[in-house]
Amino acid sequence: MTLSETTTYRAATAVQASRFMKALRRESADATPIWLMRQAGRYMPEYRSLREKYSFLQMVKTPELAVEVTMQPIRAFDLDAAIIFSDILPILDGMGLRLTFEKGEGPVLHNPIRSAGDVDVLRIPPAEETLSFTLDAIRLARAGLDSRALPLIGFSGAPFTLAAYAIEGGSSKDFKRAKTFMMSEPQAWHKLMEKLSAVVGDYLLAQAKAGANVLQVFDSWVGILSPSDYREYVLPYSQRAIEIARGAGIPIIHFGTNTGGLLELIHEAGGDVIGVDWRIDLNTAWARLGDGVAVQGNLDPVALLAPWEELKRRAGRVLDQAGGRPGHIFNLGHGILPGTPVENVKRLVDFVHEHTRK
Ligand code: CP3
Repeated sequence: MTLSETTTYRAATAVQASRFMKALRRESADATPIWLMRQAGRYMPEYRSLREKYSFLQMVKTPELAVEVTMQPIRAFDLDAAIIFSDILPILDGMGLRLTFEKGEGPVLHNPIRSAGDVDVLRIPPAEETLSFTLDAIRLARAGLDSRALPLIGFSGAPFTLAAYAIEGGSSKDFKRAKTFMMSEPQAWHKLMEKLSAVVGDYLLAQAKAGANVLQVFDSWVGILSPSDYREYVLPYSQRAIEIARGAGIPIIHFGTNTGGLLELIHEAGGDVIGVDWRIDLNTAWARLGDGVAVQGNLDPVALLAPWEELKRRAGRVLDQAGGRPGHIFNLGHGILPGTPVENVKRLVDFVHEHTRK
């Protein structure tokens, strides 16, 4: 081995020995690992000041800026993993749905899917072609994280959550239009989901090859479905995407919100770790999932807006429910809210470590 190969090998070994990677393998660690969904973002002054100069998509599409934002929470808090700064929606842009982020409106897809014909013309491009900025950001971020022996999380939206945005053309309260399409145009729906599972699988695999140590699949809005609909219209496609990604041989976290009615099915679709939100008690969720899986969650993000004593009590309750079992990864049940006090994030991260230190 050359000197640089030896250094890379040592860094990779140190990452594998980190408490986050241990928990993903359900091995006991020196303390419970913690990272927070949307840990980079508007609640941080460092983020807001960069954002004054660049648009959100500019930051996502410029690897140096994406890495800078990825590292902001790592420098500010004692987090156990970094997540690459990007978004779940640029993958749709690559398939032919023009994406912008409008002030105060959130994401807008300018030519949403409204018919079977719209599904037919969607492209299935390789991630290397349309998402090279995030793959480059992963390569660049890995170098900076090596010195801290910190794992890097790559991610993708799950086929259902992406289909929901693609059909609605943006965010929605109830994704009524997407569900109507699913029920009214089942053939087109299945074709759309097949295309999405192929691009999602390929994107996850490409992120692993670029240097991600873990992959998270965000099925944020899947909780609006009944179990029978999940099984018929969604499960085969999440399973397919996860199966493709498994080719990389790294752990996969499968996350959704409002999944109390779907937990076993989500587990069946795949993942070494199941991410749950606060609408279900962590111990109840884990009992239903069984010992063969790790669990991530599940503090209500609103708790970070409460006084420290109350936040601490609630974080303690999550840890009590996990009961020190190997395989618990502390996280919120959904992303950090804008307006969250930075001081509370710092105290939460330190509390989880101190409270669980062996
Ligand atoms: O977690 C991280 O720190 C990594 C980055 C990340 C972002 N979005 C950055 C972002 C991740 C993992 C996501 C995932 C994402 N994006 C999801 C799944 C998770 C979830 O929250 O349910 C979804 C549904 C989206 C789509 C999306 N992106 C919406 C609806 C919005 C607008 C609402 C909002 O929060 O602003 C975004 C924008 C977005 N994605 C921002 C960030 C930091 C804010 C952009 C800004 O600076 O204005």
